[in-house]
Amino acid sequence: METFYITTPIYYPSDKLHIGHTYCTVATDAFARYKRLRGFDVMFLTGTDEHGQKIEEKAKQALVTPQAFVDKIVTGKGGILDLWKLMNISNDRFVRTTDDYHVKSIQYIFRRMYENGDIYKGAYKGLYCTPCESFWTQNQLVDGKCPDCGREVVSAEEEAYFFRLSKYQDKVRALLESGDFLEPASRVNEMINNFIKPGLEDLCVSRTSFTWGIPVDFDPGHVVYVWVDALSNYITALGYGNDKYGDFDRYWPADVHIVGKEIVRFHAIIWPAMLMSLGLPLPKKVYGHGWLLLDGGKMSKSKGNVVDPVILAERYGVDALRYFLMREFPFGSDGNFSNEALIARINSDLANDLGNLVSRTVAMVFKYFDGTLPECREPDEKDDELLSLVRALRGIYEKSMEAYAPQTALVDVFKVISRANKYIDENLPWLLAKDEAKRARLATVLYNLLETVRVTVTLLKPFMPESCDKIFAQIGAAPDQVTWDSAARFGLLNPRASVQKGEAVFPRIDMNKELEALEALNAPVEEQEELPSVTIDEFAKVRMTVCRVLSCENVKKSDKLLRFDLDDGSGKVRRILSGIAKYYKAEELVGKTVLACTNLPPRKMMGELSCGMLLSVEKGDKLQLIILPDDMPVGGTVC
Ligand code: ME8
Repeated sequence: METFYITTPIYYPSDKLHIGHTYCTVATDAFARYKRLRGFDVMFLTGTDEHGQKIEEKAKQALVTPQAFVDKIVTGKGGILDLWKLMNISNDRFVRTTDDYHVKSIQYIFRRMYENGDIYKGAYKGLYCTPCESFWTQNQLVDGKCPDCGREVVSAEEEAYFFRLSKYQDKVRALLESGDFLEPASRVNEMINNFIKPGLEDLCVSRTSFTWGIPVDFDPGHVVYVWVDALSNYITALGYGNDKYGDFDRYWPADVHIVGKEIVRFHAIIWPAMLMSLGLPLPKKVYGHGWLLLDGGKMSKSKGNVVDPVILAERYGVDALRYFLMREFPFGSDGNFSNEALIARINSDLANDLGNLVSRTVAMVFKYFDGTLPECREPDEKDDELLSLVRALRGIYEKSMEAYAPQTALVDVFKVISRANKYIDENLPWLLAKDEAKRARLATVLYNLLETVRVTVTLLKPFMPESCDKIFAQIGAAPDQVTWDSAARFGLLNPRASVQKGEAVFPRIDMNKELEALEALNAPVEEQEELPSVTIDEFAKVRMTVCRVLSCENVKKSDKLLRFDLDDGSGKVRRILSGIAKYYKAEELVGKTVLACTNLPPRKMMGELSCGMLLSVEKGDKLQLIILPDDMPVGGTVC
């Protein structure tokens, strides 16, 4: 059986995944399902890219180990695995770069490249974008910032290993210019003009300034550069350099790596060079898809505009969301996401065109023939156009799918669906039903409609697997009637076709009501203020002291202020006024152990002197005083 190996990028478990990530995985899933439908032995790989400075820093902020941090995002409730399950992603394997077998393989890969002279030790001095885990040279920056994400870069200098990328420049260029290794074609020019022509520099492939990575086994102060670690997932997950899997010979080289446009350079330049160094065959294709934009900009959590696929899938159905993502945007280009476009697309294509075709056809078979068609037929040349469109559809669809143009494939399927709806209006079955002599003609019209549904929905199945199965059940199509072969044939359903009643597969959505509801749900995430950093010396100047509340009263004529007399361990009573009367009753705080900043200059409030500030925690409209356990030593300071 012919194999087909297809991959998505492995995702960073640093933030919640958004609709843009979902787009990439759903597309890959649709291609994988399409190839399975065609009878290929498919290996579909996805996974997570769990190492690097960014994850180490986020884990530190969250006060957990990097492993615990990534575990929660990958395998925890509502994590990446749950998202792919929800979206009905049919991956055959899931690789985590923290898996033992992957770690072992990376050490092997790094050692092999070192031993064959392609990795050497030097010193790295340059610029680094931590969020993207990318090294840059000064002239690659755009307005002094990272050209990929537009954020600040930092200077980095450390002993490092380098990969002789420059050595592979000509071979990589020839690869890019040959045939259709990289698609769409526009990305080839981008790679050649932006990276190859200015000259490929050797790539820094190890770091020493942080530890969350795979140690170089012959020099353990170094961890392997996260992209070398990540790109290799495509072979480690087949068993290259480990005994966990044994499918390398069966599936490698990959038929296609599906990736977003910003990581094309890693896949189309660095990855082939690494494989050349390892003496391995090269992937047959890298496809760089476009971005889903929101208001013209890239989605990102820091912009506060992340669209949550879980909310959308739960409201409108997984298949409707999958369909929208593949139908709305040309795969190779950017597209603007909007809730309005989503709802409009579901209503027009799924509820109206497909949903109506199925429900009207099934309802008429019930109404006029009690659910089972009679065998009599009366073909008419009026049927020819629809029938020839249905017969030609699989070939047209195949061409688009093979060209990674799922949008075009779907447009063509829906042309036939629309034609079938028009065929109902042309043949007026409700009038045929009034005349006993036209029963054979009526049965023919309905049979042709059932057949059109069978063929079109077979081709939609890679995009909407569950809904298509529901429709097959309604039109009484057996599994052997919805195969790739049967999609090229007309007239496969039993002449005495029986239909089943079922609920509407794609209910209509009330646009205005939903837009309002989504707006409320999707209230922009509060922009995280970029605070200036403080040095440890500056921080040490702030004195935070454990105090016990001796007495607490409301300040007269103030709704806000409470007056605290505190034991701060100095032997004197410290008085602090705090604006938390809205949240606490004075008497409930007496005797509590609290935290106060005690070296602020005294300040007059409502005519009284306040010597310090009680520390509270604020989020949204909630405020909570920091109340410490009673055994905290009064007078102790935060260090
Ligand atoms: O890049 N529209 O991971 P990642 C379309 N770990 N695609 C989008 C998107 C958007 N708005 N936002 C993200 C990484 N993506 C690396 C990959 S592979 C060896 C290592 C796509 O989680 C993005 O283009 O940042 C990329 O293809 C994928 O999501 C994963 O992004």
